Amino acid sequence: MFEHFSLAPPDSILGLNAAFEKDPRAQKLNLTVGVFKDDAGQTPILESVQLAQAKIFQQQKTKGYLPIEGGKDFIDQINRLVLGSEFDYGRVATAHTPGGTGALRVGADTLAKVLPAGRFWVSNPTWANHNAVFQAAGFEVLSYRYLNAAKTGLDFAGMLEQLSQQGRPGDVVCLHACCHNPTGIDPTLEQWREISDLLAKKKMLPFVDFAYQGFGDGLQEDAKPISILMRDHSELVICGSLSKNFGLYSERVGALMMISESPRSTDAVLSQIRSSIRCNYSNPPRHGEAIVATILSDAELAPKWRSEVDQMRSRIHSMRNALIQGMEARGKNFGFLADQKGMFSYTGLNPMQADWLMNQKGIYIVGTGRINVAGLTTSSMDRVCDAIAEACAV
Ligand code: LMR
Repeated sequence: MFEHFSLAPPDSILGLNAAFEKDPRAQKLNLTVGVFKDDAGQTPILESVQLAQAKIFQQQKTKGYLPIEGGKDFIDQINRLVLGSEFDYGRVATAHTPGGTGALRVGADTLAKVLPAGRFWVSNPTWANHNAVFQAAGFEVLSYRYLNAAKTGLDFAGMLEQLSQQGRPGDVVCLHACCHNPTGIDPTLEQWREISDLLAKKKMLPFVDFAYQGFGDGLQEDAKPISILMRDHSELVICGSLSKNFGLYSERVGALMMISESPRSTDAVLSQIRSSIRCNYSNPPRHGEAIVATILSDAELAPKWRSEVDQMRSRIHSMRNALIQGMEARGKNFGFLADQKGMFSYTGLNPMQADWLMNQKGIYIVGTGRINVAGLTTSSMDRVCDAIAEACAV
């Protein structure tokens, strides 16, 4: 029967990454997948992570299974990091999931049990994997307007208009808490208040993808949209990723948080999360979880990690500014990038220009025009600016 399989298309992000690995050109540059790189073009293991690993190797006694939802230390720490210290943790059912993608899928699978034939709204554009994940969980996926016609800013009025006219009670709305992927364009806090208010009035459920905490304005600042949503919504889903802010990409550490109106529902919600996990990957991997829990509970490692997040954010910021200046020096106005936040910038380049950059210059960007700003380095900047300026004329 296997002869009936046809070839699936390559993934629009990880497929390009694989093509990059195979490219024999010495001058190639990878600006596709969202991975932080230092100015030498390496994805380092954070110092706080290295120290935590040394501690774990000394102290860890077992590789036995973890609880289905992950260990208590991790869950307590992650609740505090994302929800702040004032929150009533009795209302949240939290699970360690393999990466942010794991959180999205387990969250959607769990919601599907109470929302059969449910509808999931995603921004247009959104992270390339959102549609597939929510569809796989059985949802109909619809998209709401997000980008303005010039593709340089938020179409806030269009977003509100569409959700208000077409949204229905019980619809789920995927929102990016910060550092919108792929555009880097975030609503202001005032706009968040309006979004939150509209969804509450329409009885739509916010489902927050929080993959870049710390990469926008700061660890606490980036969680502000979640506080706004929590004020208006008694129920909320949050999918966090620790891949980026801890640099733990391949350790697969994420967290699903489902907040209920009252602690009375939490046990039932957690039991449903557990059953979604059990029939999928059974229970989570230990090592990455141990790293995160060790760092966040250690009086020396936690501040060290926070300052490493600050350093990553400021490097990305300086690369974005250098790109804007480099383009300006070549007579191109890319000033709109200054308002974008996080790892990605949406350059406005089209798929043909992206192909041209890959084929002619060995510079890999996603076909939507998204570049990983964190992949730029001081030494590659001129080459990239020259190539983009040339691509603009293609
Ligand atoms: C990205 O958008 O590049 C990252 O979230 C990595 C991925 O899995 O796509």
